[in-house]
Amino acid sequence: MILSAKNISKSYKNGNKVLTILKNINFHVNQGDLISITGPSGCGKSTLLNLLGTLDKPDTGELIIDDKNILNLSDNQLSLLRAKNIGFVFQFHHLLPEFTILENLIIPQRLIGISEQNSRMNAINLLNKVNLLKRKNHKPNLISGGERQRVAVIRSLINKPKIILADEPTGNLDKKNTESLISMIKILAFEFNQAFVIATHNEEVSKICKKHYTIEGTKIIKLGN
Ligand SMILES: Nc1ncnc2c1ncn2[C@@H]1O[C@H](COP(=O)(O)OP(=O)(O)O)[C@@H](O)[C@H]1O
Ligand SMILES: [Mg+2]
Repeated sequence: MILSAKNISKSYKNGNKVLTILKNINFHVNQGDLISITGPSGCGKSTLLNLLGTLDKPDTGELIIDDKNILNLSDNQLSLLRAKNIGFVFQFHHLLPEFTILENLIIPQRLIGISEQNSRMNAINLLNKVNLLKRKNHKPNLISGGERQRVAVIRSLINKPKIILADEPTGNLDKKNTESLISMIKILAFEFNQAFVIATHNEEVSKICKKHYTIEGTKIIKLGN
């Protein structure tokens, strides 16, 4: 098991009202898991991913990542654990606009201490694998939206995280680019035995996943078998 959330709850305060989004959720991710989380807008998918990704803290419960209870870590320890173990993909790519595609892939590796030479080599290998090497010297605004999102996925896994959390990764893409992104995720998940948790409205994305969940009320519910 690479991530384990035990009895986590999350509420938001809105003036003097308390809005409980998730209550006593248990959720586990194993190596190689491909998990979809679906459900209507506002049901709590992003809230859950932000908790699993340690971008936000649960009100109660435990979150164990890499055998550590993250609630016991200092901010610095948590940042390092996040950089090493968790990759993020969002609906909007969040690539650094001032840097080339290659630099965008080198920077996160340098942050966890990988040498310049190895960072460059890893980035080039991955770009080559997904047929984007020809774009390596472009800045993000000079490539297409679909290409940007594929680079964002590459960036999310460049540090070989234990888990990638993707929040509506195809939400901004047309059908053709959605298909390319899906086939890329499929290849990478298989080749690296990479775990993904994907919040999505897209049925095709959900179809490549092996485990399916939805959020109803304040609970997470497993769908199918
Ligand atoms: N920072 C926040 N403060 C108050 N309410 C929030 C905050 N973030 C999300 N919410 C509310 O929590 C609910 C779940 O939101 P979210 O997790 O973004 O849902 P989803 O990703 O499934 O669309 C929504 O009702 C939303 O308005
Ligand atoms: Mg959301």
